Amino acid sequence: MARILSAVAWPYANGPRHIGHVAGFGVPSDVFSRYMRMAGHDVLMVSGTDEHGTPILVQAEQEGVTPQQLADRYNRVIVEDLAALGLSYDLFTRTTTLNHHAVAQEMFRTVHRNGYMVERTTMGAISPSTGRTLPDRYIEGTCPICGYDGARGDQCDSCGNQLDAIDLVKPRSRVDGEVPTFVESSHFFLDLPAFVEALGQWLRTRTAWRPNVLKFSLNLLDDVRPRAMTRDIDWGIPVPLPGWEENPGKRLYVWFDAVIGYLSASIEWARRTGDDEAWRSWWNDTDALAYYFMGKDNITFHSQIWPAELLGYAGRGSRGGEPGIYGELNLPTEVVSSEFLNVEGKQLSTSRGVVIHVRDFLARYQPDALRYYLSIAGPESQDVDFTWSEFYRRTNDELVAGWGNLVNRTASMVAASFGEIPAPGVRTPRDEELLAATTSAYGRVGDLIGAHRQRQALGEAMRVVGEANRYVSDTEPWKLKTDPDRQATVLHTLTQAVADLNRLLAPFLPHSAQQVHQTLGGTGAFSPQPRIDEVTDLDDPSRRYPVITGDYTDVPGWAPEPVVPGTPVGKPTPIFRKLDEAGIAEELARLTDG
Ligand code: MF3
Ligand code: ZN
Repeated sequence: MARILSAVAWPYANGPRHIGHVAGFGVPSDVFSRYMRMAGHDVLMVSGTDEHGTPILVQAEQEGVTPQQLADRYNRVIVEDLAALGLSYDLFTRTTTLNHHAVAQEMFRTVHRNGYMVERTTMGAISPSTGRTLPDRYIEGTCPICGYDGARGDQCDSCGNQLDAIDLVKPRSRVDGEVPTFVESSHFFLDLPAFVEALGQWLRTRTAWRPNVLKFSLNLLDDVRPRAMTRDIDWGIPVPLPGWEENPGKRLYVWFDAVIGYLSASIEWARRTGDDEAWRSWWNDTDALAYYFMGKDNITFHSQIWPAELLGYAGRGSRGGEPGIYGELNLPTEVVSSEFLNVEGKQLSTSRGVVIHVRDFLARYQPDALRYYLSIAGPESQDVDFTWSEFYRRTNDELVAGWGNLVNRTASMVAASFGEIPAPGVRTPRDEELLAATTSAYGRVGDLIGAHRQRQALGEAMRVVGEANRYVSDTEPWKLKTDPDRQATVLHTLTQAVADLNRLLAPFLPHSAQQVHQTLGGTGAFSPQPRIDEVTDLDDPSRRYPVITGDYTDVPGWAPEPVVPGTPVGKPTPIFRKLDEAGIAEELARLTDG
């Protein structure tokens, strides 16, 4: 048994999340966590909404609300959507809790005390008419590298380069078009060069990572510069140093604080369980494993910035130092990053209206249908294109006609012939062959999930579903009325195979797994679901917010368990809804209407 931290990327609370987001961080982390729990490991799965930074400010301004009101609104939407998808977080919280602020400040103070935050003067933009600072994202102009005219102060979307606003040619404010003036401004820079050696040493031991993620992360070390961890912005966590803390215009950089969320959420989780120190088994114990799940645009922050923060906190950079109150914290075991999901050949883009929100999807389709599609055809190791026709095809051919139909006809035949799971007689080689296939699948499917090859893992489980369907056509149990002994053996064998397949599919299809379990006469929790609790901020009794949490201890093991003859089985109701193909055109119309 191992302790496993499932650290899931924190979605920005600047709007509802779309299916690309849950394809990147959501479903893969949940499949992994559910499997690891079934395999007997002690999983702590944490995340929350990322509520600071310019993305929140920009949207709040557009909606005419305060940043906190905006974050409150979308935190709730996101919580509801992720819970509806069955993502089994132990704690899904937010970055505006006082707990998170305190943990982020403790990290900053210690990294600073150890000498890894260096103060430097930079040129920051202000609006000449209001005197307010203009965040880089608020400025646009011509890219000094490629000449693209719509470049933003933080980055150019045309050539992809990171920029400084001051280098833009013909800079102007995106708010009102005026030309910003640049003034000197003091900031703290994380001294990344002081970690190059430690980061390189660590990365070279990470041989199990997806090759492209590892290569990208190692390449980052070729050109490492100090990076600003404070911003001229009034929304975020105060910089916890004398002279800075009181300054309303200086805040911690959103990415500095967001990645700390993995730690602060673990601490919040522990505090809420009543054992304040319980998080330490996942963070201080060097045998514990930590897997981080995200889309590929997040790699830098998880394979470089966050590890550097952890090393700086521990005093493990070239300047030495001492750990703070949290002690030496584990570096990521693995950064599991996925590629991008496009839709109907176009890049998902909320601003351009190419978007399918999780909320809308789940209003019309079963959560397991989305989970199935994203697991079997998601952007695991390359960009993929989601198309509605492919979603309909896979749902109808594979989920409904493949797995759903197998469950349905098995339960129907058992119900009609015996009303309960029959006791088997002597098994033939054909029976043994099917059970050998389901039994041996545990090892293969489990290893594939453990290696983050979920497409192949699910494909393997579905291949065995196909074998079970062939077994039904080969043995034709409905023709065995005159040989009840043989019929009992066949239907017992089949029920056993379906029960095994249900376990193998449970990490992918947790909602239907519970239904299948009950269809075969099972009782009690089989595939536990998250719930939403309304909680009080642990350090501010006046503040309440929703969290996702759950009790996931009651799960079946990752191994066959004999079905019990005599268990009553009634006439089943279909598990999956067959989709009417007329829906495809409706969905395509919705997409182009924006
Ligand atoms: N909010 C970021 C995004 O959506 C992800 C933050 S992940 C964490 O791209 F590291 F900050 F947790
Ligand atoms: Zn450019």
